[in-house]
Amino acid sequence: MKLNEVFESYKEYILPTYTKTPLVFVKGKGSNLWDIHNKQYLDFFPGWGVGSLGHCHPKVMQAVRDQVSKLIFIPNNYYHIPQAKLAREIIYWSFAGKVFFCNSGAEANEGAIKLSRKFGNGRFEIITFENSFHGRTLAALSATGQKKYQAGFEPLVQGFKTVKFNDINAVRSALTDKTVAIMLELIQGEGGINVATADFVRQLRQLCDEKNLLLIIDEVQTGLGRTAKMFAFQHYGIMPDIMTLAKALGGGLPIGVMVVSKRIADILGPGMHASTFGGSPLVCRAALAVFGAIQKDKLLKNAQNMGEYLFERLNALKNKYPVINEVRGKGLMAGVELDIEGKAIVQACMDKGLLINCTHDKVLRIMPALTVTKGQINKAIKVLEEALKQG
Ligand SMILES: Cc1ncc(COP(=O)(O)O)c(C=O)c1O
Repeated sequence: MKLNEVFESYKEYILPTYTKTPLVFVKGKGSNLWDIHNKQYLDFFPGWGVGSLGHCHPKVMQAVRDQVSKLIFIPNNYYHIPQAKLAREIIYWSFAGKVFFCNSGAEANEGAIKLSRKFGNGRFEIITFENSFHGRTLAALSATGQKKYQAGFEPLVQGFKTVKFNDINAVRSALTDKTVAIMLELIQGEGGINVATADFVRQLRQLCDEKNLLLIIDEVQTGLGRTAKMFAFQHYGIMPDIMTLAKALGGGLPIGVMVVSKRIADILGPGMHASTFGGSPLVCRAALAVFGAIQKDKLLKNAQNMGEYLFERLNALKNKYPVINEVRGKGLMAGVELDIEGKAIVQACMDKGLLINCTHDKVLRIMPALTVTKGQINKAIKVLEEALKQG
């Protein structure tokens, strides 16, 4: 297909639900992407959080190739080995409990909401936070604390109360005798890279214990080493009751997971919840390869070291360019809050061969692969600085 034919086909046949950037990509390797004209890009926002290993990681490719030739899919009324191994791996890295496999972040969050309602036995209210993002399906959208995503889709699913992030008093004020859970991202991704404070998270955990509420941590964007720990909750010294995962877990293949702590692991029984494609042999092999690569290639350590370096370089830019208000985040999840809208900066970077993102209008989101090198960070910072100079 030629470039124009691609654009025409999208225009004619695909619902226009995405704001599109006119680039057609044909190949990816690590932190690099090539478009249809063979122009090379340095991808510092691979796959909207999916590409934690970068593009086409050799271990994922090998696992997928091997599994494709054996068994791609088997429904969940049977057993298969990759799912058994992956469940064990996820629990090993997170907390004692059990998992439910599905296909996306929103679906994992739907599972968490349903499980909470079943646990509540009449209690059904869930407290969520301003600027949160939990997905586009109706309950996940209702949990999301950003009106712009909800407008036009009312009536929303009832039972969600949205309060100020990092404000324990706001949470306490929202409690009723119907409250069953508190749901949050420890670093709000779509909401502008807002980091939960240690005190706030500790107090949330305490409150959940006192009132018999479930603490649901959405790690769809922060999970799998993004913050330089396998899961972001591990920075906080607390355990969730439910954790949701997706994005990076499949190394590019679609998988979502709800991880449920032991004490509530038997609440959903046979027939109460399901997902046809959830946890197929193929995606489980890919996810096992992701865990394998993170361990073997010491990617948590690399995320820690490269994250420190990235923040050092971004802070140096902040000191030089007053248009930068704040640099925040953890590990390799960085937000650069500007005084101005970030769109033009993202475009200028793209023209120079660097892909980054802008969220919440003014926050540049920089989330390179965990495999990123110092050389690649230097290159990206150079381009970003040129773009900032251009203004
Ligand atoms: C924190 C968080 N939760 C949930 C979702 C929804 O995930 P998905 O698009 O896989 O449904 C996202 C997607 O950006 C996310 O960032």
